[in-house]
Amino acid sequence: MKAKLTVDKDFVIGKIDKRIYGSFIEHLGRAVYGGIYEPGHATADEQGFREDVLALVRELQTPIVRYPGGNFVSGYNWEDGVGPVEARKKRLELAWRTIEPNTFGLNEFAGWCRKAGTEAMMAVNLGTRGADEARNLVEYCNHPSGSYYSDLRASHGCHAPHAIKTWCLGNEMDGPWQIGHKTAHEYGRTALESAKVMKWVDPTIELVACGSSSLGMKTFPEWEATVLDHTYEQVEYISLHQYYGNRDGDSPTFLARSLEMDQFIHSVIATCDYVKARKRGKKDIHLSFDEWNVWYHSNEADRQMEPWQVAPPQLEDVYNHEDALLVGCMLISMLKRADRVKMACLAQLVNVIAPIMTANDGGAWRQTIFYPFLHASVYGHGEALVPLVQSPKYDTKTITDVPYLESIAVYNEARGEVTIFAVNRSLDEAMTLQSDLRSFGDCRVIAHTVLEHDDLKAVNTEAQPDTVKPHDGGDAAADGTLVTATLPRQSWNVIRLS
Ligand code: AHR
Repeated sequence: MKAKLTVDKDFVIGKIDKRIYGSFIEHLGRAVYGGIYEPGHATADEQGFREDVLALVRELQTPIVRYPGGNFVSGYNWEDGVGPVEARKKRLELAWRTIEPNTFGLNEFAGWCRKAGTEAMMAVNLGTRGADEARNLVEYCNHPSGSYYSDLRASHGCHAPHAIKTWCLGNEMDGPWQIGHKTAHEYGRTALESAKVMKWVDPTIELVACGSSSLGMKTFPEWEATVLDHTYEQVEYISLHQYYGNRDGDSPTFLARSLEMDQFIHSVIATCDYVKARKRGKKDIHLSFDEWNVWYHSNEADRQMEPWQVAPPQLEDVYNHEDALLVGCMLISMLKRADRVKMACLAQLVNVIAPIMTANDGGAWRQTIFYPFLHASVYGHGEALVPLVQSPKYDTKTITDVPYLESIAVYNEARGEVTIFAVNRSLDEAMTLQSDLRSFGDCRVIAHTVLEHDDLKAVNTEAQPDTVKPHDGGDAAADGTLVTATLPRQSWNVIRLS
């Protein structure tokens, strides 16, 4: 099979905001307890943070991590997680039906972010709480000193403000499962009033309003239009969440799901622009795709989970090779709208639907999805270029005109490099990809990295952590401005050129 990609350095989609390679830590399952934080673990530092996990997080270079939820945040009292640990209360956690010990809270998270080399994206509780709690939390985190909450922070040992710039106004408030679920009008009003006082405390912060929990929500896209109607002046971003699964074992359809993600992004941009037009607005609302991933492997085990445990193994999807391919396609979807998707969070980071897994008292390893996320996060910087793709296509029962080739090129002028990300969706045939980089002059191949496996269901485990792992043996070769490469069947490819 043959396919062609044409790019030109003048045909720029937009500058890539590094925050699209963000991730997410929720107080859920073993993400915090037994994940990033496990005092007594052989690798734990003096604060109880697992160094083996920190090393993998640093390897991913994830620039921003959303916290503390997720559904968790809609019932959370942040005050429970600050101050002397001995005095902190255990609480019933209603979103995931567990016991929250509160031995880890926002100050511990801020300390962990510093060690991980990342920044926090903090969510406020607009489920059971509202503007008052939200403004107090901003004051606690960001106000220098001389007020009740900033002095309280200092008394908890954090003299310098945490200076958290990005704040989510609640989580999935459109979802009936959410604690304190609201109609779009109810949420829009609450979000607006919270946003006002949060920005009065710290005018430098940026705010994300809740968009729809998935493309499938019945209230989409009316939800976005109504919420932005209330909040347009006060917020900079609207959120999108989307998870995919392959429950019926239909891999061609599963790998085509990123086309639905393209549609979701496109529709949210259209809705933002509609509200802007109606308001005669000056600014564009940007997109924060702050939950995205594959999630379905663990659903059955979670249904059988005993409630009211501390840090049970919830949402522990074991990812296979085809999941990594779809994650690669989803990353390309976001790069294709780099002009408007300015933040995103792979949900989540450790143990809970995550690229990094740990065993309690044991090791840490990379799941299959770690690799496309790593490659994009490390090499996907600069400007995203319009991808003119010519590819054979296929139809599935529900999605038609699916190109076998999913691809985008990124131009990093500072490093003098072009990186092509490409997925061959074909389960049967290798693809010869010819890339035409006509405006770049003669090219040289730095590396052609390939993630391939004969078995779509192959996984990495603690015992066999390297079953699915990239190699640098791709055959990309340059001839002037033309680059020819074989993309093995069902593979993710990164072709780096200078
Ligand atoms: O990431 C897992 C959960 O998925 C989050 O808590 C929630 O926001 C979403 O439904």
